[in-house]
Amino acid sequence: SKKAVLEPLVGAVDQGTSSTRFLVFNSKTAELLSHHQVEIKQEFPKEGWVEQDAKEIRQSVYECIEKTCEKLGKLNIDISNIKAIGVSNQRETTVVWDKLTGEPLYNAVVWLDLRTQSTVETLSKRIPGNNNFVKSKTGLPLSTYFSAVKLRWLLDNVGQVQKAVEEDRALFGTVDSWLIWSLTGGPNGGVHCTDVTNASRTMLFNIQSLQWDNELCEFFEIPMKILPNVRSSSEIYGLMKAGALEGVPISGCLGDQSAALVGQMCFQDGQAKNTYGTGCFLLCNTGRKCVFSEHGLLTTVAYKLGRDKPVYYALEGSVAIAGAVIRWLRDNLGIIKSSEEIEKLAKEVGTSYGCYFVPAFSGLYAPYWEPSARGIICGLTQFTNKCHIAFAALEAVCFQTREILDAMNRDCGIPLSHLQVDGGMTSNKILMQLQADILHIPVVKPSMPETTALGAAMAAGAAEGVGIWSLEAGDLSAVTMERFEPQIKAEESEIRYSTWKKAVMKSMGWVT
Ligand code: G3P
Repeated sequence: SKKAVLEPLVGAVDQGTSSTRFLVFNSKTAELLSHHQVEIKQEFPKEGWVEQDAKEIRQSVYECIEKTCEKLGKLNIDISNIKAIGVSNQRETTVVWDKLTGEPLYNAVVWLDLRTQSTVETLSKRIPGNNNFVKSKTGLPLSTYFSAVKLRWLLDNVGQVQKAVEEDRALFGTVDSWLIWSLTGGPNGGVHCTDVTNASRTMLFNIQSLQWDNELCEFFEIPMKILPNVRSSSEIYGLMKAGALEGVPISGCLGDQSAALVGQMCFQDGQAKNTYGTGCFLLCNTGRKCVFSEHGLLTTVAYKLGRDKPVYYALEGSVAIAGAVIRWLRDNLGIIKSSEEIEKLAKEVGTSYGCYFVPAFSGLYAPYWEPSARGIICGLTQFTNKCHIAFAALEAVCFQTREILDAMNRDCGIPLSHLQVDGGMTSNKILMQLQADILHIPVVKPSMPETTALGAAMAAGAAEGVGIWSLEAGDLSAVTMERFEPQIKAEESEIRYSTWKKAVMKSMGWVT
């Protein structure tokens, strides 16, 4: 017999760089009822290139949905109570597909990919008017990180993409668009859309007018006919076309970092969160104002929770490599067998013993935006062992966060009094304590760490026509928290931080 569930449930797809998840929450307490996770392969066909198979990404979403529904069935929970689905996704990663066959025309070019470095250099020389042309419209620096240059590369280098554009068969999208189009029917009526947060990461979107920008599309030579329709982050885009949840509306869509901001309930001006995933992203809500950074941060759309609702902006500090450094120690050096082992190694020594690891695998993002940087491990002696390197890798994540927090404090004027954190790596207690020590402010973590998925679920549940949650009414309030207080003297963290900065300087200028 099925358990009587009196309240509606909401599902969320969390499609990150390293893995895909589907999670189901109950609407009353936002309690996580069940989930399923699948790791996603990354391909490195050439030095600096990072690709993923868009079909594998799509398949992983179907698999996670089906497996989660099976698990709910075993818990005697009726899946017909799932009333809405939200999507959150790795941002910027670029997919072009054929709308007639539903097949991708090339691998997804991942946000971390550096192949467009020369394109970026050439374009920088051609920026019309003042150097502010791209930044004033998009809030972004001209960088390999964002979709426009990846799409430019695909149009220039992949014959199939070019041909499909000429024959009006090509569609472009970030991962949210690819998934929503596929889940709502693909070649049979799939809805080609994105939301304002994801659009704001393409470098083609004007974050003030909230529209694709003609001048930017001309500058990057992108045909506007292949771009998705831009919608708010919370409205019904379409219905699930197949599978266990056929007919359920997809009604929330947010880039994963925006989703985490919503999931952490950072709705007020000045509230911020830091998410430790493949990379690490600190976002601070700046309200309805578009604040432009003087210190290497990005301006981005935080969310727009409904067609008629106002848009909110955020300042963002983006770090390319956080969890990815642990995966590198596992897959490339083999010094750990599973990511969790890192904590054990680091704990054995409790210090890096003067070893510093700058994981600039994809150049350095905020606040440096230095594509010529490459990873270095320095300060080695014959005493150094793998435990010290493991510790240095964790410290690197914390130092990088310190750099973006400092930039954020300078841009905002009012220093953050504590740091709200979430993401996979926050289950590592050593990392959390180190973070508090290096920032010298308390680090605060929600006891339900799946804030990205929760944010997407909240957007889906709050959509017009779904109406499970009213976010304005504060239907969901902040959950219980775990706190990490700084345990070392401020002077000590300053000394370590200044040595880190010396190491960062050494990582620059490797590629000319
Ligand atoms: O901008 C890239 C970001 O969205 C990736 O997030 O969680 O895969 O590190 P994550």
